[in-house]
Amino acid sequence: EADLESKLPLKGKKILITAGPTYEAIDPVRFIGNHSSGKMGFDIANAAADLGASVVLVSGPTHFKAKNTSIKVVSVVSAQEMYDACHLYFDDVDVAVAAAAVADYKPKVVASQKIKKAADEFSIELEKTKDILLSLGNTKKNQYLIGFALETENEIENAKLKIQKKNLDLIVLNSLQDEGAGFKKETNKITFIDKNFKIEPMELKSKELVAADILNKVISHFS
Ligand code: CTP
Ligand code: CA
Repeated sequence: EADLESKLPLKGKKILITAGPTYEAIDPVRFIGNHSSGKMGFDIANAAADLGASVVLVSGPTHFKAKNTSIKVVSVVSAQEMYDACHLYFDDVDVAVAAAAVADYKPKVVASQKIKKAADEFSIELEKTKDILLSLGNTKKNQYLIGFALETENEIENAKLKIQKKNLDLIVLNSLQDEGAGFKKETNKITFIDKNFKIEPMELKSKELVAADILNKVISHFS
C-alpha cells in the first residue's frame, strides 16, 4: 500500500482546473478571444489524473482532448459559463488551479443579428467579465487555491498583489519575456510565489514539466 501511495500521491484528492481562452460574443458570428491554446491547463489535468486525483477540467474552446480518460471535461465558451461551471464544483474540491486565460471584458450587448458593415469607424462598448478566481478566493474554505499571473512589467509586485486580492495559496507567474515561453508555445518560464511571498524562479521547461512542478507543490501541501 505504501508503494501505491507513492505512485498515486493525489489519490482521494479532487481537483478543479480551468483551461483555455474564453470567447465573448459580439454577434452570432463574431467574438472577442485570445491566443491561449489550453495546453497548460490540459497538461496539469493529465498530470493530476495520472497522480491519482479526481479531476474536473473546465475548458474554454480548444482542440485539446484529455489523455487520461478519468478526467471530467466540462466545455464552456464564455467567462460567465466558466464561472457557473466552476462554482458548481468548487465547494466539493480540495484544490483548484486557474490556468484559463479568461477575457477581462465582454461586449455590453450581444447583437442578435450579424452586424452589417456601415460607418468608417465603429466601436463596441465593453464591460468587465466576472473574475472567476477572485470569486473562488472569496468563497474558499479549505481549498488549496492556485492562480496564474501574466505580467509584462513589475512582475513580482503585481503577482503579489494578485495573491492578496484573490486570496491565493500559490501563484504561477508566467514570464513572457522569454522567447520560448507563453501562449502558443511548448514551454513556459515560471516563478512560484506562495502566500508568504516566498519566491522560487524555475528554469525554462516544457509545459508538461511545469505541470509536474505545480503538482509537486500540491503534493507537498498535503504531506
Ligand atoms: N482569472 C479569472 N477570471 C477572470 C480573469 C482572470 O479566473 N475574469 C484568473 C486567471 O485564470 C489567472 C488569474 O486570474 O489564474 C490572473 O489572471 P491575469 O489575467 O494575470 O490577471 P487579472 O486579474 O485578470 O488582471 P490583469 O489582466 O489586469 O493583470
Ligand atoms: Ca486578465
